[in-house]
Amino acid sequence: MSAPDENTLPTTSRIFPVNRYFDFQRRSLENIEEFWAKTAKENITWFKTWDKILDWNIPFAKWFVGGKLNVSYNCVDRHLDSPNRNKVAYYWEGEKGDTRTLSYQDLFSEVNKFASVLKELGVTQKKRVTIYLPMIPELPVAMLACARLGAAFTVVFSGFSSQALSDRMNDSESSVLITADGGYRRGKIIPLKTISDEALEDSPKVDHVIVYKRTNENVQMKQGRDLWWSDLVANTKNEFVKPEELESTHPLYLLYSSGTTGKPKAIVHGTGGYLTYVNATTQWVFDPKPSDVYWCAADIGWVTGHSYIVFGPLSLGMTSVLYEGVPDYPQNDRLWEMVERYGVNILYTSPTALRGMMRYGDEPPSRHDLHSLRILGSVGEPINPHVWLWYFHNIGGGRCPIVDTWWQTETGGILISASPRLGLVPLKPGSATFPLPGIEAEVLNDDGKPAKTNEKGYIVIKQPWPGMLQTLYHDEERYRQVYWSKFPGVYYAGDYCVRDDEGYFWLLGRADEVLKVSGHRLGTIEIEDALVSHPAVAESAVAGKADELKGERIVAFVIVKAGHKPTEELSRELREHVRKAIGPLATPEEIHFVKSLPKTRSGKIMRRVVKAVANGMQNVGDVTTLEDQASVEEVKRAVLELEEQVKSGD
Ligand code: WTA
Repeated sequence: MSAPDENTLPTTSRIFPVNRYFDFQRRSLENIEEFWAKTAKENITWFKTWDKILDWNIPFAKWFVGGKLNVSYNCVDRHLDSPNRNKVAYYWEGEKGDTRTLSYQDLFSEVNKFASVLKELGVTQKKRVTIYLPMIPELPVAMLACARLGAAFTVVFSGFSSQALSDRMNDSESSVLITADGGYRRGKIIPLKTISDEALEDSPKVDHVIVYKRTNENVQMKQGRDLWWSDLVANTKNEFVKPEELESTHPLYLLYSSGTTGKPKAIVHGTGGYLTYVNATTQWVFDPKPSDVYWCAADIGWVTGHSYIVFGPLSLGMTSVLYEGVPDYPQNDRLWEMVERYGVNILYTSPTALRGMMRYGDEPPSRHDLHSLRILGSVGEPINPHVWLWYFHNIGGGRCPIVDTWWQTETGGILISASPRLGLVPLKPGSATFPLPGIEAEVLNDDGKPAKTNEKGYIVIKQPWPGMLQTLYHDEERYRQVYWSKFPGVYYAGDYCVRDDEGYFWLLGRADEVLKVSGHRLGTIEIEDALVSHPAVAESAVAGKADELKGERIVAFVIVKAGHKPTEELSRELREHVRKAIGPLATPEEIHFVKSLPKTRSGKIMRRVVKAVANGMQNVGDVTTLEDQASVEEVKRAVLELEEQVKSGD
């Protein structure tokens, strides 16, 4: 891929020259252990220093072995002795406009009281806690309280269904669930407690359910199991809970993420390495100044919120905006209005949100004074140059560099991005630019050889880094297989990538069965499993179709069982069924009833054929060379057959 025409290049490339970045990056790779040890020592407070920087037993990395620390201490307590004590940690705003301001002192008090509550309920280092809350301050408070006690937590996005919640509580063997009566989204109430009640019917190992009153809806409280957050906090005995001195490798959280299997798997992140990594990358990428107001407009239910709303910013004593709702409700300029009102200096959002905003034209942002903005960020999907330029000109006024940050739930933090702190390279709209310090990235082709300039290949990471996942919970074999077997000895991310003639990295989306629908990560096989669990479905194949707004939309091809009719009614029922199994975010937008699905001789679904047909056959040329185990003729025939069936069905 070539750089865009010089005339279309934003002025940043001329205003911000390349400086120290390349030098710093090169030196960091000469000895990554020393580099990360220095970073960890300078930025994190340790109760005890490590005995060993890195224990690298491929593919298992243990960082800062023997070191002792506590994430809650680093994010809260250590700021109390500094000028940050009365600094705002979060400006929270509800969708309806209600607000709360929490200083670091307030956060300390809330976290301690809630940690005390959890402790009284028997939560220890050996327990797991599931958190199913809307975007309210109690969400980071609950996460930090768990971290204080050393109980690994798992946050479940509030858009997931009861079945998805139950699966996660069971798989993580959680003994406590923290939820709310409800949460607001686009003016509607999501009945979180009712959904939880349904989930709990299949999760008998949960002993306690703590319920925060957010909407004051009438909810059922089961005696002996369900407890009100407010009562527990009012009655707790302790105002202070000593932060546990935890091993650096102690698990901090599990986060379920969709992959190439039916059920999402739990990605495990540790303590010392993870915190070092999110702390350092927050500094390099967002270059925060002490008085800055920072807003990462993601949801804490996804990894972006974990790393860049909670642990990165809090460990640095930053001031963040925390917002409950969607960016275009109740007015389509809500996001820009809030940027102006809070004087936001650093804004981190997603291409899907930006595409949503662009729909309303240039006028809504132009109504607001956005001069406070200094740095703009993007995450979650490739950002199209057209969207990049809109963000750059209409939001950043041509002044603010855009950091296009490439990373994954697995990587814990940003791996590839420009770095305003270390020296900004000239930006190219659509390229995440170069790896951050300590990250050795390369693009390999199908033969495992370094891809040539402009040759599409797979992005890999060649040395371990402190933010990387420790493993998949209870499934070391799968961890090895998914990330470390395609190219032995290096981390395989599952994304396509190209490097241009200046070495810039252009991340081109997933090379596997993972979808990004409005920035939400979903697996095609996960959705297929949900479809076939319906009694009328014999088989199904799901693919992503390019969508201007959502990035990808879900298209399903379905074979019904004998005795069932492929009707509009069934189509509606199947959509509802998937909503129930996973959540509204996974609902297929198109369902095509077919009599057969394209398969190879060994019976594997020809995934690229399915994808090509879902996308209106635009890339059949590509497909013929890409489909495994099938000849060009077979693939062509399969495409035509499936296409015919779709046409005759419509
Ligand atoms: C995609 C989100 C291009 C990529 C932090 C990755 C991106 C997946 C970018 C991980 C970007 C994320 N440019 N693609 N800047 N950022 N992706 O686990 O396909 O929800 O593999 O983590 O998002 O999604 P996840």
